[in-house]
Amino acid sequence: MTEHIYAHEHPETERRRDGGFTLWFTGLSGSGKTTIAHLVGPAIEERGPIVEYLDGDTVRTHLSKGLGFSKDDRDANIERIGWVAARLTRHGAAVIAAAISPYEETRQKARELVEEWGTFVEVHVATSVEECARRDVKGLYEKAFKGEIKGFTGVDDPYEEPSNPEVRIDTEQHEPEESAQLILQHLEERGLIPAAVASMSVATETKLIAPHGGTLVDRTGERPDDVETLEVVTLTSRELSDLDMIACGALSPLEGFMGHEDYESVLDTMRLANGLPWALPVCLAVETAPSGDRVALADESGKLVAVLDVGETYEYDRAAGGAAGIPHDRRCASRCRAAVRAEAAVPRGTRHGVRAGRAGVPRAGEGPGRDASRVRRARLAPRRRVPDA
Ligand SMILES: Nc1ncnc2c1ncn2[C@@H]1O[C@H](COP(=O)(O)OP(=O)(O)OP(=O)(O)O)[C@@H](O)[C@H]1O
Ligand SMILES: [Mg+2]
Repeated sequence: MTEHIYAHEHPETERRRDGGFTLWFTGLSGSGKTTIAHLVGPAIEERGPIVEYLDGDTVRTHLSKGLGFSKDDRDANIERIGWVAARLTRHGAAVIAAAISPYEETRQKARELVEEWGTFVEVHVATSVEECARRDVKGLYEKAFKGEIKGFTGVDDPYEEPSNPEVRIDTEQHEPEESAQLILQHLEERGLIPAAVASMSVATETKLIAPHGGTLVDRTGERPDDVETLEVVTLTSRELSDLDMIACGALSPLEGFMGHEDYESVLDTMRLANGLPWALPVCLAVETAPSGDRVALADESGKLVAVLDVGETYEYDRAAGGAAGIPHDRRCASRCRAAVRAEAAVPRGTRHGVRAGRAGVPRAGEGPGRDASRVRRARLAPRRRVPDA
């Protein structure tokens, strides 16, 4: 029959969304794959990626319905999971596969399929047969030992331990939560998920919805006595609006204008450097870097509205700004030559002031090098949402 299947004639696409990976749990029945996967999955989703679970029991209910536990059927099951995992990885998903997957060669095939599109992370949940039988959550080990179930992995069917898994978990040494943390740490170290963002303590204490990033910022303050003596930077109406929003917490958890690290991270990944999703840069562009470490910020009428502690000066990437056309950056490009970060600002009349801020100014000449294709992808999205300013 197979000669009448023309899969190769169907259109294929090479497009992919970056960042996809497959976390492949393997281990004996009852070792803890599903338990740990269900702790890891929500933690990954909290950090941005969309998770898809391909759990052994679920897959055998749907995708592999009707397959048994012969070597051929077990291999077919794993190859199907590997194929779907590869497809989802191409779409940028975080796939969590959790099936016994007893054979090294078949796991290797799954790895090869996935690695065509993203990263494959094998997690060996290394629990001994004795411990799994002691837990015997599904009552299957008892039946297998009595001979009522034939071909049970680890009892009378083989389990080939992974020779070189990316992560090996000893569940007899670690509670499920600890195992989940070890896996998340591995994903974090490999840059597959961003670092954990600030905790949601405000939400749990007050039952209110937590602000974006978990911290509500208030940068309003008293007008300092020396504000009249400071060098003045005049804000455009857009910068003034950003300042207002920083001061009252509307841009929480930003405590000021972005420094270089956050700025680059937002351009490249639409996330702050700590991993928090963030669509647009919030920078203060200046003609020349201020000479002092504090400057007064004024609106276009000259009224002093805030004080900024200058903390960082950085180059503005003129080429990338031009390609992406984010209004913020175009403005920088036309007005500025270098970039500055500032911390601390002050009052707007008696209304409010911003205690921390960061200002960006392009220097003449080229900005820091950056992978142009990544920049273009990361920055086209906001361009669609923000009409030409
Ligand atoms: N340290 C531990 N880590 C993980 N699971 C543990 C641990 N200690 C006890 N358990 C228990 O072991 C059981 C593991 O069952 P689980 O369904 O997660 O296994 P599984 O590997 O998915 O098995 P199967 O292949 O049959 O689906 C759970 O009931 C869990 O509460
Ligand atoms: Mg399971």
